[in-house]
Amino acid sequence: MQTKLITQKDIELAAECLLDGQLVAFPTETVYGLGADATNEEAVSQIYQAKGRPNDNPLIAHIASLTMLEEISQDLPKEVFDLAEKFWPGPLTMIVSHNGKLAPSVTAGLETVGVRMPAHPLALELIKAVDRPLAAPSANRSGRPSPTLAEHVYEDLKGRIAGILDGGATKFGVESTVLDLTSDLPTILRPGAITAEELAAIIGPVAQSGDTKSASSVKQPKAPGMKYKHYSPNVPVYMNACPIPEAVDLLENRGLRVGLLADNRFSDFATEKHLSFYNLGEPDDIQSANHYLFAGLRDLEKSGVDVILVQTYSKAGAGQAYMNRLEKAAAGKYIK
Ligand code: TXA
Ligand code: MG
Repeated sequence: MQTKLITQKDIELAAECLLDGQLVAFPTETVYGLGADATNEEAVSQIYQAKGRPNDNPLIAHIASLTMLEEISQDLPKEVFDLAEKFWPGPLTMIVSHNGKLAPSVTAGLETVGVRMPAHPLALELIKAVDRPLAAPSANRSGRPSPTLAEHVYEDLKGRIAGILDGGATKFGVESTVLDLTSDLPTILRPGAITAEELAAIIGPVAQSGDTKSASSVKQPKAPGMKYKHYSPNVPVYMNACPIPEAVDLLENRGLRVGLLADNRFSDFATEKHLSFYNLGEPDDIQSANHYLFAGLRDLEKSGVDVILVQTYSKAGAGQAYMNRLEKAAAGKYIK
């Protein structure tokens, strides 16, 4: 199969492919998604094949209106509407009860479905053009860093999908926050662009998956995707547990060529040491670090290094999403 690169002028072509049961990747404000008509079982099952995704890991249904939400769900608690009012369109996925109208593979057999209204004009236009929800996981091969550029999707999925709608770089760079609203206490299953503090300001206390206090109150399984190896380039990744220059020395002493993903204070240091370097932005700018993390991992992987050292950030606020993705990419490995 030849994968077409589709420009935003041709959004109708992307919609036709989707209505025809084919897969089309599209930009959202977080990362690129790999879309299929969420009411077409055959189309949705191809997503799992194209990504190499385990079939027990459910997909997010992307919608363009609250009417679409009501068409696919049931027993919506009030919190859903309060959160939608504040954060949709935006990087929040809400887990709610579904009513059986979606293709079974979207939810991997669960009684719940993850729903989100993306804040990207092309994504919204595309969903409106097909006039039904789009099932879409991140548009990477399973286990790889999520794609923040159309080129990343092409690297991973060329020949496996019908098309890629190119919308340039995505804004946030890490995926949406996944919030389970079917447990007694709303529970964050995956930290993301919207923080626990922002959610709590609207609906009161929220638990984090993994908190002991939430474990007993969660009726549904935690986000199945969180148990898999994730976000990893084909080169080992380490986090620094000592100052970056020391960490570089420790890795170089093992005879390894080091690629460095860190903020711009380390740009001159990297030049002096002849390291491959990818800039995360201004010091302490966590939004910028989130924006560049996955792109930096992919870029340094291609530069031919033996190992990638990635700067750690505080887990406060949006740093929680950054460190969650980084710890998975590094499989928990620190250097000190
Ligand atoms: O920002 C995003 O969320 C991107 C863009 C494309 O929207 N999508 C994305 O999808 O990251 P994916 O499939 O890579 O991650 C979805 C996560 C997985 O961890 C999955 O297990 C969880 O959401 N999930 C989906 N439906 C669920 C459900 N019914 N119950 C619990 N977890 C669910
Ligand atoms: Mg993913």
